[in-house]
Amino acid sequence: MYEILAKKELAPKIKMVEVYAPEMAEKAQPGQFIIVIVNQRGERIPLTIAGCDKKKGTIRFAFNEVGKTTKQLGFLKEGDCVGNITGPLGNPSEIKNYGKVLCVAGGVMIAPMLLLIRSLREAGNTLTIVMGARIKELLFFEKEMKDLSDKFYVATDDGSKGYKGLDFLKEILEKGKFDRCIAWGPVVMMKNVSEMTRKVNLPTTVTLTPIMVDGMGMCGVCRVTVGGKMMFGCVDGPEFDGHLVDFDELISRQRMFLPEERLSSLLWEIRGGCTCGGK
Ligand SMILES: Cc1cc2nc3c(=O)[nH]c(=O)nc-3n(C[C@H](O)[C@H](O)[C@H](O)COP(=O)(O)OP(=O)(O)OC[C@H]3O[C@@H](n4cnc5c(N)ncnc54)[C@H](O)[C@@H]3O)c2cc1C
Ligand code: FES
Repeated sequence: MYEILAKKELAPKIKMVEVYAPEMAEKAQPGQFIIVIVNQRGERIPLTIAGCDKKKGTIRFAFNEVGKTTKQLGFLKEGDCVGNITGPLGNPSEIKNYGKVLCVAGGVMIAPMLLLIRSLREAGNTLTIVMGARIKELLFFEKEMKDLSDKFYVATDDGSKGYKGLDFLKEILEKGKFDRCIAWGPVVMMKNVSEMTRKVNLPTTVTLTPIMVDGMGMCGVCRVTVGGKMMFGCVDGPEFDGHLVDFDELISRQRMFLPEERLSSLLWEIRGGCTCGGK
């Protein structure tokens, strides 16, 4: 059992929790993830590590309430316990001095990307940071991101704050002369960014979120195609070269269980929706 020491709402339906997990806090690095099980009957869901404090023995993660398990997690309060957490899993991000780095952070992945961006800054990189969300209400950590950046931009899909969409990136890429792009966010966003950076031959790293079960390379559920080869998101990634990823296959595999997921969430709500009753 992992006690929740702190919980915060970052934006509507996006929450961040800090749990006591000293062994994980000791080892966790940016880019890695954990597998969370809310309760005894719960399913396993992967979430990216968004912070760790070795002294306090805690790790943080943020989640978007999109389905049954993330909604169940959202019900837990400070002092409650998460049933089980496995991790840290996956390969850490490669942190080094690339030079000029374009960081694109979108949606809930803004939270774990802040951890990565802090490390990139400490490694001496010059950072242009682009933060994006569907609507302005879903933006968070703006000040934190701005403080770490040399240049900072905000974009929303509906134009309610900053640039409308990410088309403005084309101009930034033409002028910028970057050494590396790192994009973390919704798959469609990472696909679009990778298409833009391919045109200017800018090496691009993305983090993939295929459906996972064990998170340890045994079940094969998380397979993705990268450079024409089959890879496992959990043990070969989760970061990959964005110019080699078959994003369309990833998108269609992510939607494979959509009817079951919707039904499961609906049934859970009909039964009263709480953290228990993982039926
Ligand atoms: C390595 C990795 C890191 C991730 N990091 C984060 C994060 O930091 N914050 C965050 O909010 N989300 C993250 N996700 C996505 C998160 O795991 C899913 O949103 C979550 O599993 C949804 O579960 P659910 O029961 O609430 O919703 P469901 O109704 O089960 O699914 C909703 C959507 O989530 C996707 N999904 C469902 N089950 C899984 C699964 N086992 N693995 C991956 N995707 C799944 C499906 O494509 C579906 O479209 C990450 C996924 C991966 C693979
Ligand atoms: S989640 Fe099972 S092999 Fe990757």
